[in-house]
Amino acid sequence: MAKPTASFTCTSCGAVHKKWAGRCDACGAWNTIVEEAPLSAGPAAKSLGAERGRRIELTTLATEETPPPRTGSGMAELDRVLGGGLVPASAILVGGDPGIGKSTLLLQATASFARKGLSCIYISGEEASAQVRMRAARLGLSDAPVQLASETNLRDIVTTLDTLRPDLAIIDSIQTMWADNVESAPGSVAQVRAGAHELVSFAKRRGTSVILVGHVTKEGQIAGPRVVEHMVDTVLYFEGERGHQFRILRAVKNRFGPADEIGVFEMTGAGLSEVANPSALFLSERGTSAPGSAVFAGIEGTRPVLTEIQALVAPSTLGTPRRTVVGLDSNRLSTILAVLEARCGIPFAGLDVFLNVAGGLRVSEPAADLAVAAALLSAREDVALPPDMVVFGEISLSGALRPVGQTENRLKEARKLGFSQAIAPEHSKFVGGEDMRVKKMPDLVTMVGEIFGAG
Ligand code: TYD
Ligand code: MG
Repeated sequence: MAKPTASFTCTSCGAVHKKWAGRCDACGAWNTIVEEAPLSAGPAAKSLGAERGRRIELTTLATEETPPPRTGSGMAELDRVLGGGLVPASAILVGGDPGIGKSTLLLQATASFARKGLSCIYISGEEASAQVRMRAARLGLSDAPVQLASETNLRDIVTTLDTLRPDLAIIDSIQTMWADNVESAPGSVAQVRAGAHELVSFAKRRGTSVILVGHVTKEGQIAGPRVVEHMVDTVLYFEGERGHQFRILRAVKNRFGPADEIGVFEMTGAGLSEVANPSALFLSERGTSAPGSAVFAGIEGTRPVLTEIQALVAPSTLGTPRRTVVGLDSNRLSTILAVLEARCGIPFAGLDVFLNVAGGLRVSEPAADLAVAAALLSAREDVALPPDMVVFGEISLSGALRPVGQTENRLKEARKLGFSQAIAPEHSKFVGGEDMRVKKMPDLVTMVGEIFGAG
């Protein structure tokens, strides 16, 4: 048999290459290929055909068993993101920038689950037990029946968990864990992958729910290959802007509930507090109506959330004017600018454009198009929109407005927060109310004419 040679793995997509290269052929990412230790030449490396395995028991789809009930933590924002509580034997990955508050969130969550009667073990590979205890004391969680350890050796951790069989185990973080059967440094692709695999299979085997904490790299990916995301049942991202106290827990994948659901928290001196009404929070910093501001009635997961979209348009001194976007997709901005120019005859050439979603929320719904266009027009024409108006709708390349889902929910939330008029696409489905005037527009040109008297 040939001697195993080192292989090179892309940390972004997990593709294996024979040689190192600056760019991964499989996913096109740059500088993501790293060398990995060769696979051991043990029996696992032999062809499968050489030895016969055990025959697997097959069953039917019909089942008599009722799924074990989910356990709620009592933190409503967290439970919603999990799809209604913690599912037994599930593997969850919580990713986020260093210092964003993952450890704080999970310590609070663990304490809540422990108080609900789950047996919980919190293992920190980053902080000493004394540090975690100090944080718990600050958060008022010292009395919660959580078992704590500071450890990085995966073999010892799995043995301990196997003996104690807790309902929930937290591993903070997967990058600090070290498997002694893998010959590379902690935090390397091979280690992260082996560690995650070990813990996820432990969860499935023993019925323990495992929550893994993963740090996110500068590029916004959980360090280590994407395979970790494929291995777990649920991937949650904890995000927020530095300088803002809002934190958003977002489900990007969930085998047991809806993805795209968000939970909103506020970082305070006493840990994370839940924000039951995010719209009020995101709009709380809105001053009196100024040009360049439009309120977008959006949907995040199953919940309507109102956010303020802010635009600033100023003459540019650059050959290529600036397009700076925070909280939205910059390609979307380019498209909307092009549609405004081509279909409505409103050019943005020679103008710098800055676009921002207030409060640090990231909006990915196409329904935000119309609010973006309204904010841009308002900034360009220096005309403020009515302060009690919300806007939503998707813009197609022809300049027509496409209706979006959940119109009724969006309007209800707007009404609750004191808004009394809305701009929506023509064929939106909803039952109108007296306290909400909805102007239905077939296309962008009509909207421009309606609001700004241009055309
Ligand atoms: P942490 O949970 O350690 O972040 P992560 O695990 O994602 O790296 O959060 C650290 C930050 O949170 C730190 O900058 C201080 C802040 N913080 C508060 O503002 N209030 C608190 O009660 C706690 C515990 C932390
Ligand atoms: Mg931490």
